[in-house]
Amino acid sequence: MISEPKTDRASTAQHDTRHTQELLELRDAYVSNAVSHSTRIVADRARGAELWDVDGRRYLDFAGGIGTLNIGHAHPAVIEAIATQAHKLTHTMFGVALYEPYIRLSEELAHLTPGNFAKKTVLVNSGAEAVENAIKVARAATGRPRIVSFTNAFHGRTNLTMALTYKDRPYKHGFGPLPEADIVRLPQPYLYRPAFPGNEVQGCLDALEEVLARHSGEIAAIIFEPVQGEGGFIPAPESWMQGVAALAKAHDVVLIADEIQTGFGRTGRWFAVEHAGIEPDLVVTAKSLAGGMPLGAVTGRAELMDAPCVGGLGGTFGGNPVSCAAALAVIHVMRSEGIIGRAVEIGELIQDRFDTWQQELPIIGDVRGLGAMVAMELVRDRDTKAPADTETGAVIQEATRNGLILIRAGTFDNVIRVLVPLVATHDQVTEGLDILESALRTVTA
Ligand SMILES: Cc1ncc(COP(=O)(O)O)c(C=O)c1O
Repeated sequence: MISEPKTDRASTAQHDTRHTQELLELRDAYVSNAVSHSTRIVADRARGAELWDVDGRRYLDFAGGIGTLNIGHAHPAVIEAIATQAHKLTHTMFGVALYEPYIRLSEELAHLTPGNFAKKTVLVNSGAEAVENAIKVARAATGRPRIVSFTNAFHGRTNLTMALTYKDRPYKHGFGPLPEADIVRLPQPYLYRPAFPGNEVQGCLDALEEVLARHSGEIAAIIFEPVQGEGGFIPAPESWMQGVAALAKAHDVVLIADEIQTGFGRTGRWFAVEHAGIEPDLVVTAKSLAGGMPLGAVTGRAELMDAPCVGGLGGTFGGNPVSCAAALAVIHVMRSEGIIGRAVEIGELIQDRFDTWQQELPIIGDVRGLGAMVAMELVRDRDTKAPADTETGAVIQEATRNGLILIRAGTFDNVIRVLVPLVATHDQVTEGLDILESALRTVTA
């Protein structure tokens, strides 16, 4: 392991910020303003759960590339796999000449994803592209057009995945027309802000059952996130997931689990649906699948995955050999370093601290999560639950100033979420939590 030079946390020393300033000026001149940044940090290098900017300031990274770095930045095994593969073969296009890493990874995904049935995979470049392909598979297999998607869902930024996504601004605003006619939007349980107070799970299931009956023969698939990520880290109750799986089966509708943010150990299982013991027909992955390299996958029932016409799935860069080699290394590291057990430990550490703060700080309206996917929802008033969106931004800014990278989530922009790499040490997690606590106290003082 390369040892890093010791540098101070962001706030503890007066650093020269000239390199950062110069790059930010260039950024403003040459990069579209439509690309947003949760911080103005210009990253230079990173390792594990730590990141250094171009002026040498050190940060703890509680964003983890928005859930992409479950095994941390620059894991040596991933770097080695990337370098070895890059020296051998960087591209053929899998549709022109096959290569081993794509095939081996498809085999691994067939065994890792839940369900004791024959499975096949298609590899693509991103999460949104994987979701698009899952919908293509479901439509080709069923011959039906419609898709059920849920409130607070996020599935990507392409035309179809924007339409599947719930929140308008910034994801869909000004980008229409969208193919929304084929999407049926239904409530997904949100226990803190229920659509059916006192009866949230059953109310949501009843709404789904009614739609499946009303649109009988028209619905190809139901797509859901087992913990809604961008929507605000809203865990789906296990009984709801079980009910959805039963309804999908009864109506012969393809069940698609979007595990792009929840997958690869984040929630204390390989995949979050395992908590509910359900077996989706298709599982969509990306983010931590390849440890920071661009890769997405659709894995599911072989007969569904074989339904599209030959040549119907694919793409020039999909399943790039270097990304596949990185993914195989990620899977090896997850197994050999007990990453899933660490997710449980880290999750408990964070949840305990959040629970303690909630008792004292009225701004923390709700603490929730699954495994190491933990968040707090900030409100101005615990009775009205008015979202504390500006305060959320202020806490994040204050934390960043003190050396902690944090991101928000939520339909109301008022959720602070943690996606710290699961290789973070106990001391690093504690250090980050200390910074977050003092940021919360400063902003609410
Ligand atoms: C649940 C979920 N689905 C889909 C996506 C889209 O993935 P990508 O940004 O790789 O297109 C994301 C990204 O945040 C996600 O969290």
